[in-house]
Amino acid sequence: MSTHTFILNGKRVTVDVDDNLRLLWVLRDVLDVTGPKYGCGINVCKACTSHFNGKAFNPCSVKVKDVGPEDEITTIEGLPDTVGKDLHPMQEAWLEYDVAQCGYCQPGQIMAAVAKVRQAQAAGHEISDSDLDEIRNICRCGTYNRIREAIKAGAAHM
Ligand code: FES
Ligand code: FES
Repeated sequence: MSTHTFILNGKRVTVDVDDNLRLLWVLRDVLDVTGPKYGCGINVCKACTSHFNGKAFNPCSVKVKDVGPEDEITTIEGLPDTVGKDLHPMQEAWLEYDVAQCGYCQPGQIMAAVAKVRQAQAAGHEISDSDLDEIRNICRCGTYNRIREAIKAGAAHM
């Protein structure tokens, strides 16, 4: 066990856990931040997708010792604060398009969507179908068509 400090949803947090514990379990079991879902635990399903310094990552595949004190982790819980509103535009689009079915994969889908739109904007273009094809988050309920429509709508307000 040793202490690890990082920034979670805008606040500095410190945990005392095994160096090799992966971040998803630190978030969910130690810090009680349960938006990132546990699906596969092996970096395949993307249910746990969150942001590491603004980029999409899967906390089930990162050991807590690999997160530094200045690293910023954002989960779905902290997403609205990044725009200073109650809901991020991507969450509003999700509601407008009534995307969720069981809902399990959806926090990860939204976090992946926001990161993908940011990536496209940084590259100077609008989100395209080929960008959307790169999102690998699995939805066992098959909401993929609504996800794609919502991402395009949400992107227009980002
Ligand atoms: S739980 Fe992290 S990718 Fe599946
Ligand atoms: S909405 Fe059920 S897994 Fe995606």
